[in-house]
Amino acid sequence: MSQVAIGGIKMRKIAVLTSGGDAPGMNAAIRAVVRSAIDKGIEVMGVQRGYAGLINGELAPMNRNSVSDIVHRGGTILKTARCPEFKTEEGRQKAANVLRVFGVDGLVVIGGDGSFTGARLLSKLGVSTVGIPGTIDNDLSYTEYTIGFDTSLNTVLDAINKLRDTSSSHERVSIVEVMGRHCGDLALYAGIAGGAEDVIVPEIEFDKDELCKTILEGKLKGKTHSLILLAEGVGGASKLAKYVEEMTGIETRATILGHIQRGGSPSGFDRILASKMGVKAVDVLMEGKSARVIGIESGKIMDQDIDEALSIPRRFDEELYEISKVLAH
Ligand code: ADP
Ligand code: F6P
Repeated sequence: MSQVAIGGIKMRKIAVLTSGGDAPGMNAAIRAVVRSAIDKGIEVMGVQRGYAGLINGELAPMNRNSVSDIVHRGGTILKTARCPEFKTEEGRQKAANVLRVFGVDGLVVIGGDGSFTGARLLSKLGVSTVGIPGTIDNDLSYTEYTIGFDTSLNTVLDAINKLRDTSSSHERVSIVEVMGRHCGDLALYAGIAGGAEDVIVPEIEFDKDELCKTILEGKLKGKTHSLILLAEGVGGASKLAKYVEEMTGIETRATILGHIQRGGSPSGFDRILASKMGVKAVDVLMEGKSARVIGIESGKIMDQDIDEALSIPRRFDEELYEISKVLAH
């Protein structure tokens, strides 16, 4: 076997896991990690159920066939979990011991900022770690896109198209609440691409009465219905719908899209992004680096120190937000 030693580190065996909320494209990332590692003479183990499975020793060898027929599937074949025990020093020590017992030199963690924080702490126990951003929220500032965001955006757009039919037939206001925890990207992108009258995000202060005014002005201009995109981080779609109906006199309905946004076959964009990032993650481990994260900047796949990446404050694209305002009126 041609184990590779670049920068003095020999990567003989790596492991891969998915953690936190699942995202479409995670499977494509697992596939890329497994196949590119095998191609480079490195053994790969799959960890079931994220950090919980790692602590419990749920590891099994993977080969090229383990990742056949998954590039187009949503979810994650490795399963995912949230693991409070991993937040403790003792839990992480158990995980590091498991990796040592299995002879694993490096770990690829596919997940969001919580999972990355876990990977960062694990690297301090001597495990080489690299993170691949997999979350529909697009809430990691160091990277332009996270795996799953594009697919989720398209799922939201599909739902909006359907809601438009019923909302225009009834001449109603439709308030659509989308995921994103504390991040308004999904609402903003879907608002622009879906032709929304207004977008409400946690990053920008919002005035309920201004919203009602926008809706009434739209009606005066001849709009037969209004579509409002509301980010989960602001929340309260049903309450807001009630308020809008009372203040405008226009029938208003709230739709909370929920976990539908996390499922489905990944878009071409997410499959390519995941494939490139998976390959890069293996390269980074082979270079002897640890505590790194993979991202995309100006269209180029890059890696960055995990501490630096996690310390970048949340960026919100205010220019894009302004575009949403201009195009809505
Ligand atoms: P995401 O990775 O999508 O942000 P979570 O925030 O739920 O999802 O984190 C996933 C898992 O990562 C947690 O269940 C926990 O095991 C681990 N994790 C999260 N935050 C920390 C932390 N501060 N320290 C150690 N591990 C963490
Ligand atoms: O992290 C992705 C995300 O979809 C968030 O937008 C949402 O708040 C959260 O996961 C919900 O996850 P769950 O219901 O699995 O706890």
